[in-house]
Amino acid sequence: MPRGLVMVRKLKIRISRCCLAILLVSSLLTQTCGATMSRPNILLIMADDLGYGDLGCFGNSTLRTPNIDGLAKEGVKLTQHIAAAAICTPSRAAFLTGRYPIRSGMASRIETRVIIRTGASGGLPANETTFAKLLQQQGYTTGLIGKWHQGMNCESRNDHCHHPLNHGFDYFYGTPFTLVNECQPNKDPEMSVKLRATYWFYTQMGAVLVFTLVLGRTTGLFCVEWKVTAFVTSCGVLFFISWFANYGFLRYWNCIVLRDHIITEQPIKLENAASRIVKESISFIERNKQEPFLLFVSFLHVHTPCFTTEMFHGKSRHGLYGDNVEEMDWMVGKILAAVDKEGLRNNTFTYFTSDHGGFLEAREGIDQLGGWNGIYKGGKGMGGWEGGIRVPGIVRWPGMIPTNTVIDEPTSLMDIFPTVAYLAGASVPQDRVIDGRNQIALLQGEVKHSEHEFMFHYCGLYLHAVRWYHKESGALWKAHYVTPKFHPEGAGACYGKRMCPCSGESVTHHNPPLLFDLSHDPSEINPLSPGSEPLFNTLVNQFKRAVDEHRKTLTPVPEQLDVYNTIWKPWLQPCCGTFPFCWCDRESDMKA
Ligand SMILES: *[C@@H]1O[C@H](CO)[C@@H](O)[C@H](O)[C@H]1NC(C)=O
Ligand SMILES: *[C@@H]1O[C@H](CO)[C@@H](O)[C@H](O)[C@H]1NC(C)=O
Ligand SMILES: *[C@@H]1O[C@H](CO)[C@@H](O)[C@H](O)[C@H]1NC(C)=O
Repeated sequence: MPRGLVMVRKLKIRISRCCLAILLVSSLLTQTCGATMSRPNILLIMADDLGYGDLGCFGNSTLRTPNIDGLAKEGVKLTQHIAAAAICTPSRAAFLTGRYPIRSGMASRIETRVIIRTGASGGLPANETTFAKLLQQQGYTTGLIGKWHQGMNCESRNDHCHHPLNHGFDYFYGTPFTLVNECQPNKDPEMSVKLRATYWFYTQMGAVLVFTLVLGRTTGLFCVEWKVTAFVTSCGVLFFISWFANYGFLRYWNCIVLRDHIITEQPIKLENAASRIVKESISFIERNKQEPFLLFVSFLHVHTPCFTTEMFHGKSRHGLYGDNVEEMDWMVGKILAAVDKEGLRNNTFTYFTSDHGGFLEAREGIDQLGGWNGIYKGGKGMGGWEGGIRVPGIVRWPGMIPTNTVIDEPTSLMDIFPTVAYLAGASVPQDRVIDGRNQIALLQGEVKHSEHEFMFHYCGLYLHAVRWYHKESGALWKAHYVTPKFHPEGAGACYGKRMCPCSGESVTHHNPPLLFDLSHDPSEINPLSPGSEPLFNTLVNQFKRAVDEHRKTLTPVPEQLDVYNTIWKPWLQPCCGTFPFCWCDRESDMKA
C-alpha cells in the first residue's frame, strides 16, 4: 500500500475517534463520519407479546396497522430480528444491556422465569449498564414510559434499587411490573385457578383447626397448650396473608403506576392507561425537543387481558386481541405525529419491535387473546422455536438509512445497545461481554452481512437451540438440543398449561440435535438427517464447538429470579398509603 494511502487511512481512523469533538471538520473530510455522529434523538418503541405475523407490513392482510406499516415504508424492515429470550423479563434485560440474560442473572431455572410480583427482591442488578445509562452520560435526556418488569426493591420498601431511575432513566412513568389479568376487574385470574383453590382449601382447614383448638381449650373438653394454639394461629394468619398477597389483593399490590419514585395509581386504571402513555410520550418529546433525548416507549399492549378502549373495542376482525393491536398502532401514530410536529423526524432514530413472539396459549374459550406468529412454529415461552423469538423489527432514520428496504440478515434486539451507544458517541463497557453488535453499517447498506454468526436461544437458564448463519454461503442452520413437548401433540403450543416449560418431564432432549435448514425450511418442519444432509455430522460438530466456546464466556452470577428472589416479601411491597392498606389515585386527585 502506498505511504500516502496508509497515512490517509490513519488519519481517517483518528478522525473517527475524535469524531464528536471535531464534528464540523470531520464532516468536511469524510462523508461517512460527520453526519452519522450528529447525535440523533433515539425513540425506541416496544410492544408486549406482539407476534411476527400481526402487522400489515409483516404480511397480515386482515389487521389494520397503517402507522407501523408507514414507519416500515420510511425505513428498514428487519425480517430476522431475534429476541434473546421468549419471555418478558429476560428478553427486556437483554435488550437494555446488550447481553444474554444468563450473564446478568436474569435467566431463571424455575418455571416462572419472570418477575411475578412487585414485592420481590429480584431485578436487573445495579452493576449492569443499560443503554439509558450510557446515553445519560453522553448528555441525553432519557425517559421510560410504560412497562418496566425489571424489579423494584432489594432490601426495603422504598430503596428502589432496581427502579428505572437507578438504571439511567431521568424520567419514568408507567408500571414497574406488567399487565396481568388481575389488573382488570372481573377477568379470570391469570394465576393458576387450581393453586388458588388449594390455597383456599388449606386456609379453611387452618381456620377449622384453630377454632377446634380454641374451643377445646376454653370448654375444657381437651387440653392444648396455649403456646401450640398461638403457634398454629400465627401460621394460619401468615398463610392467609400470603394468600391475600398472591391472589386476593393482587390487583392492588401489583397493578400500580408510578411517576418517577411516586406511586400515582394503586391499582392502575386500565381505562386511562393507553391515553396516558400516549400523552406522557408526547409531552416528553415536547419538553425535550431542544436537546438530544432517548425515549423508550414500552407499551402495555398487546399483553393479556388486552384491555381496549371504546374507540377500538369491537372494531377489528380479530376479536379483543385484534382490537388491542389496532389500538396500539393508533398509539404509535400519535407518538410519531408528535415527532413530526416538533420537526424532529429527520433527526430521530426510530425503532419498533416486540419483546418476543405471540402468546399462543392465551385464549378465552376459542377466542384468540395472544399474537399470531405467521409461518413460524411455536410462540411465547418457548426457548428455541422461531415463533417465540423472531419478532418484527423496524428502523427509520430519514436521510441516514434507506427507505422501503428489507434486511433479511440475522439481527438481535441486543444490537440496539451498541448501536445507540455508537450514535450517541458513547463506548460500550469494556469489562464485560456484550453480545449485541453495532448494526449501523448494515442498516445504512454499507455492509451486506450481519456480524452475527452464532446466536444462542435460551429457555430460562437452559440452552435449547443455536442458530448459525454462514454469511459466505448464505446458509442458515438451526440446531435444537431441547424442545418442549406440545400439548396436544403437534399443536405447536402447550394448550391447557400456562405455557411450555423449559426443563424436566415436559421437554424432549435431542442427541444428535434436531437440525433445520432455516433458509429453505423457515417453519422448521423437516429435520435433516445424516442421510438427507451430507454435511450433517460436520454441522453438528461445528455447533458443538460454538456452544463450548460460548460456555467458556459465561461466569457465575447471583440469580435474580430464583425462588428466594421471586417470593413475596411484605417489607418490599410498594405501597401508596400505610401498609397493608395500599391504594391511591393521585392523577384524579390532582385534577380535582
Ligand atoms: C392477522 O392477525 C390476526 C391476529 O393475530 C390473526 O388471527 C390472523 O390469522 C392474521 N392474518 C393473517 C393473514 O396473517
Ligand atoms: C428529511 O430528510 C429527507 C430525506 O433525506 C429530505 O428529503 C427532507 O427534505 C428532510 N426534511 C427536512 C425538514 O430536513
Ligand atoms: C455484578 O455483581 C455480581 C455480584 O457481585 C458479579 O458476580 C457480576 O460479575 C457483576 N457484573 C458486572 C457486569 O460487573
